[in-house]
Amino acid sequence: MPISIIRQPLSTVDAPWVAAGIFDKEPAADLRGTGAEALAARLLEEKEIKGGVGDTVPLYEPAGFRSPALLLFGLGAKAKLDARAAFSAGVALSRRLAGKPRERVAVSVAAILEAGDAPLVSALVEGITVGMRGPGLRKTEPNRHPFPFDLIAPEGTSDEGVAELERLAARGAIVGEAVNEARRMVNTPPSEKAPAVLAEAIRDAASACGVTAEAWTEARIREERFGGLLGVAAGSDEPPAFVTLEYQGAGDAPFLAIVGKGVTFDSGGLSLKPTSSMEDMKADMTGAAVAAATIIAAARLGLRVNVRGYLALTENMTGGRAMKLGDVLTMRNGKTVEVLNTDAEGRLILADALSYAAEAAPARMVDLATLTGACIVGLGTRIAGLFANDDDLAGDVAAAAETTGERVWAMPMDDDFKDALKSGVADLKNVGGKWGGAITAAKFLEEFVAGIPWAHLDIAGPSWVDGENSTRDAGGTGCFVRTLVAYLERSAGA
Ligand code: BES
Ligand code: MN
Ligand code: ZN
Repeated sequence: MPISIIRQPLSTVDAPWVAAGIFDKEPAADLRGTGAEALAARLLEEKEIKGGVGDTVPLYEPAGFRSPALLLFGLGAKAKLDARAAFSAGVALSRRLAGKPRERVAVSVAAILEAGDAPLVSALVEGITVGMRGPGLRKTEPNRHPFPFDLIAPEGTSDEGVAELERLAARGAIVGEAVNEARRMVNTPPSEKAPAVLAEAIRDAASACGVTAEAWTEARIREERFGGLLGVAAGSDEPPAFVTLEYQGAGDAPFLAIVGKGVTFDSGGLSLKPTSSMEDMKADMTGAAVAAATIIAAARLGLRVNVRGYLALTENMTGGRAMKLGDVLTMRNGKTVEVLNTDAEGRLILADALSYAAEAAPARMVDLATLTGACIVGLGTRIAGLFANDDDLAGDVAAAAETTGERVWAMPMDDDFKDALKSGVADLKNVGGKWGGAITAAKFLEEFVAGIPWAHLDIAGPSWVDGENSTRDAGGTGCFVRTLVAYLERSAGA
């Protein structure tokens, strides 16, 4: 259902629930002069509520309101409102309300417009959309009840202003739904998303949105000599799959290639992971899910960009035909790799996918991969490692991330890190030494990009949340869909 913009004073809105932002020191403008102003001010003054991002307080029967219920949602410090705060506040708002069925919610954007730019309205809508869906995909009693919502614009908003809000709301819903789609794929139990099953689901979802999509089976993968993908898949009873996606929104202009790691379950292979490290390894296909969701969102938004996706999908298992330590694989680009740790499987499948993508001569390539635990050691769970062979591209990715509040940190790519990958038997080995594991992994990938401007996001940390809080659900995050959509919009000059 499209989100409509209601232009009238908050207190006159006829909806079962209205929601309004508050800052950490003061109620926002649209509460002023209403029966809720004194109440909100008192709650803040008494420190019963903080007005911080993620705080929510329901008030029933607010004096002078047409609506029987008002949810106050915190936006933090007024001077610090940014996309991350607006998104998180939106998540908290809808997590709070979606616990029960709600007929309709009308959300005021007055506070957002008072403190920031109109585009933050999209971030709020993205957050509201994301907060409606949780990780409880297989609960017999649903614990999340998505609700329809509208936005309330301040009374004085111009017609153009309303039109702009309509556009931002529609954008926010599409982007939020793309994040949810990626989260849903990640949160799906691993045995329900075998590579071929996931490939076909992605192909069908993409085709339905005007994206040209192909899903290769194992026979084609063998014909195309994807030695890395076949090597990793050898230990599984499930065949691998490879998906190509193409959205052409800008005629014959150059295209961006987005490459995704799609390990639907990473047991580690013969270099088996301990149970505690294996628990979340259904999320090892986050890169592929995010790449697909981004391209689908670009198509749904009608962005004037050209973008192609390359998703390498496989399980990493321990079957009787599993690759063994010391085995040598020949990758798509002809380079040979000695496998000395079967748990460093992501780089093996990305090697083929990057080589193949590079053959189509994209202007730039970005890959997303839950690649290394080392990246989490270095940067923690909320920041992605950003590695690149091109400073302009790295700068553009970082600038896009800045606009969404998703966090990246540029990492070194000095050539001496490559020394750790020397093999006595083959061109490379698939593991470096003990130190700098996220960097040696990136240097490995660089061997397969054929000199094309390329950036690699190691999303092992931000792909997954262990413990929920009011602004984040546990489970898959769909991280960097929002940033990549922003990147594409910026590259289109939108
Ligand atoms: N999928 C893992 C990386 C990972 C770890 C993602 C934790 C999310 C959370 C990857 O395939 C892996 O196992 N990497 C190894 C590489 C090592 C063997 C060089 C790692 O990080 O331990
Ligand atoms: Mn692994
Ligand atoms: Zn992995």
